[in-house]
Amino acid sequence: MAPHLLSFVLLLVVVVAAAACVRGSSGCPTSDRDALLAFRSALSEKRLGMFSSWTGDDCCSQWYGVSCDPTTGRVADVSLRGESQDPIIARSGLSRGLMYGRISPEICRLDRLTTLILTDWKQISGPVPPCITSLPFLRILDLVGNRLSGPVPDDIGNLSRLTVLNVANNQISGSIPTSLPALSSLVHLDLSNNQISGPIPGDFGNLRRLSRALLSRNRISGGIPSSVGHMARLADLDLAHNRISGEIPGSLGSVPVLSSLSLDSNRLTGQIPTALLSSRGLGILNLSRNAMEGEIPDVFGSHSYYTALDLSHNQLSGPVPKTLETAAFVGHLDLSQNHLCGPIPTASPFDHLEAASFANNDCLCGGPLPACK
Ligand SMILES: *[C@@H]1O[C@H](CO)[C@@H](O)[C@H](O)[C@H]1NC(C)=O
Ligand SMILES: *[C@@H]1O[C@H](CO)[C@@H](O)[C@H](O)[C@H]1NC(C)=O
Repeated sequence: MAPHLLSFVLLLVVVVAAAACVRGSSGCPTSDRDALLAFRSALSEKRLGMFSSWTGDDCCSQWYGVSCDPTTGRVADVSLRGESQDPIIARSGLSRGLMYGRISPEICRLDRLTTLILTDWKQISGPVPPCITSLPFLRILDLVGNRLSGPVPDDIGNLSRLTVLNVANNQISGSIPTSLPALSSLVHLDLSNNQISGPIPGDFGNLRRLSRALLSRNRISGGIPSSVGHMARLADLDLAHNRISGEIPGSLGSVPVLSSLSLDSNRLTGQIPTALLSSRGLGILNLSRNAMEGEIPDVFGSHSYYTALDLSHNQLSGPVPKTLETAAFVGHLDLSQNHLCGPIPTASPFDHLEAASFANNDCLCGGPLPACK
């Protein structure tokens, strides 16, 4: 071997040995391993023995659900799913897992963590540790389907890299943190099916990258902030089953990619904004079970393509809009339980609709209902 090559090999050996010293002999830093063990000790999972692999030094290659960044050697992902898609559950023949305990704040010692997924374990309780907001690299926080309680941490807005925040199907209470709209990387927000109360922050529209905002089945009150009109990437807004009041901001009609809007079962009043019904791309609109009034804006056209248009259980009056006849497609239409009156249009979007779509109005006639006199 040539001398310079030999010295290079020696140098390489020294470098690798030094790196191994820093990380412990295994490739998992001792401090990360200790944090994981502390995290594990606050949880209990007996059906699958998911944690049985969490022994020995090498948390980076042997421990189920843990992975490390190959460059830094630090723990980057902790991903434990209690639903059947997870391979360990598929192999076990069980339909789902069950885990008890709490999320230990010791997890926050993993300060290179990018992903924390702890989903569908049904019984994990206690709060989301507030220190989670001090993890600067966190991109995915997915805790759906547990029994977590207490609020979304106040400083959540500090997580400038966070793209996914999902705490749906828990018992989260308190209000939406005022810092939340500062999550400048957020793409997917799911807070649905919790006990969250109070208003939607007025500057919610600052979430410029947000594509899905799912806040249904909570106790959210106050109005829909007009700033939502600035959300260039918002495709899916679900605020159903809350206590939201006031008028629907017309600015929602200028959200360019909005395709699904569910505002049903709230306390909304006023008229349906013309800009909303004439917007292109909206395929699902549910305003059922509110107190919307006035006439339905007659602004449909060949750009209208609705898989579902549900305006039932409101105080809407006047006729069924004539331009609905010109819509490219109307799959499911529900105008029942309003105060509509007059002949039901007859063109193709109407030929497959049943009487139930028009039931309990003041004086609709024709089509699937008895003929007009
Ligand atoms: C969040 O950011 C604020 C303002 O920069 C700071 O005062 C606070 O300590 C941060 N919180 C955490 C948990 O890092
Ligand atoms: C609209 O919302 C109502 C009330 O929440 C619900 O019963 C109905 O199924 C929804 N309509 C569609 C088409 O999903």
